[in-house]
Amino acid sequence: MKVFLIGGGGREHALADAISRSPDLDRLYCAPGNAGIAAVAECLPIGAEDVDGIEGFVRENAIDLTIIGPERPLILGVADRLRLGGYPVYGPNASAARLEGSKAFTDEILSRHGISDKQFQVFTSPAEAKAYIDEQAVPIVVKADGDAFGKGVKVCASRAEAYDFVDEVMVRRAFGASGDRVVIEECLVGEECTIKVFTDGRTVLPMVASQDHKRIGEGDTGPNTGGMGCYSPVPSVDDALQASIVAEIVKPTVAAMAAEGAPYSGTLYAGCILTDSGPELIEYNCRFGDPETQVVIPRLQSDLLGVLAATAAGKLEGIELEWSEQVAACVVIASGGYPGDYEKGKLITGLDEAAALDGVKVYHAGTAAEDGKAYTSGGRVLGVTALGEDFDDAFDRAYAAVDMISFEGMYCRRDIGRRARRNYSG
Ligand code: AMP
Ligand code: GLY
Repeated sequence: MKVFLIGGGGREHALADAISRSPDLDRLYCAPGNAGIAAVAECLPIGAEDVDGIEGFVRENAIDLTIIGPERPLILGVADRLRLGGYPVYGPNASAARLEGSKAFTDEILSRHGISDKQFQVFTSPAEAKAYIDEQAVPIVVKADGDAFGKGVKVCASRAEAYDFVDEVMVRRAFGASGDRVVIEECLVGEECTIKVFTDGRTVLPMVASQDHKRIGEGDTGPNTGGMGCYSPVPSVDDALQASIVAEIVKPTVAAMAAEGAPYSGTLYAGCILTDSGPELIEYNCRFGDPETQVVIPRLQSDLLGVLAATAAGKLEGIELEWSEQVAACVVIASGGYPGDYEKGKLITGLDEAAALDGVKVYHAGTAAEDGKAYTSGGRVLGVTALGEDFDDAFDRAYAAVDMISFEGMYCRRDIGRRARRNYSG
């Protein structure tokens, strides 16, 4: 098969690495890719949101499967364009990617189909949003409807804070057109967990659970990031809990999308909160998580390309996935200053030595190659994953690899996996 992967982060490196081992692969292309992906795929100077460029490449090169990694191209309709041309694609159409692209859409479809009884209201006017907030208890959650790079949600402790975030979104337009509408939700309380599945619109195949660390600082302090590290499995998400989230939330959502003429095909990522009255959905993502992919995919023993192709073809029924019993740990290495301003273009050393350690994979995220060397080119630079027999073993291996890598200003959290490790002494 000739395969084309869209994206250029750590998620895409983990996907590219697994796809490159498939017996069915003939050629792997990636746009735009990064310095690590370049070792397993031919990287192309086409932007991940360049619909015309992507379609042109697929047509001219007779690509058998295009896999779309990030959410933006999915929300923008890159998958639609390829499907219209008759090209197989992994990832949902824009109408289905609304599950990530519009929080109002998601709350409304879940409510309409009796999947959630969370209280919420959608507003196009700041005055009406504030009048509604006046009648509600606090804390209360205010969300920009559209995609806001993970910054469009605020859990507000007071009404004053909620008014201010309504103004931030709708009046000061902090997230542009994503703030045309706001969603005001009741504040749910409980532990959070995420469940990801492969689905072709009918069959749902769960992946193993993973736990991300969103905050920049140790002890889960400081601003939110794209994710600073992760592990899989997750001790608090047992098989019964996973099965109940799939049966009560994810499968009914997939059925609801099909019933409403927007069948969902690709990865569906459900962020849930475990309330006293059972699991509730807080967000869907229309893609693999990053860095969750860097711990989930290394545990997949089945051929990833086969699963992605079967999903794209609507033929997941009857497929069973094999997962490794090993623990996977991933520590993200970021540029100093991230998630705020940071410098780029720093030379990265120690990559080969780290990657040579037993059980270790160094996934590139924000890197660029020049003259055979790797330089930083983004906020999250690398995801260092290790497989081990238990959490301590996996994290010891991952941190040993981290310690071999260096660049000016490099930052990582030292406490990833703290809750799962027996011998953490931070
Ligand atoms: P989202 O971008 O929708 O995942 O929201 C980001 C974070 O806000 C979530 O991970 C939760 O911690 C929190 N959150 C979102 N919605 C709610 C809610 N209805 N109740 C409590 N916390 C929420
Ligand atoms: N790590 C969270 C995400 O991919 O959205």
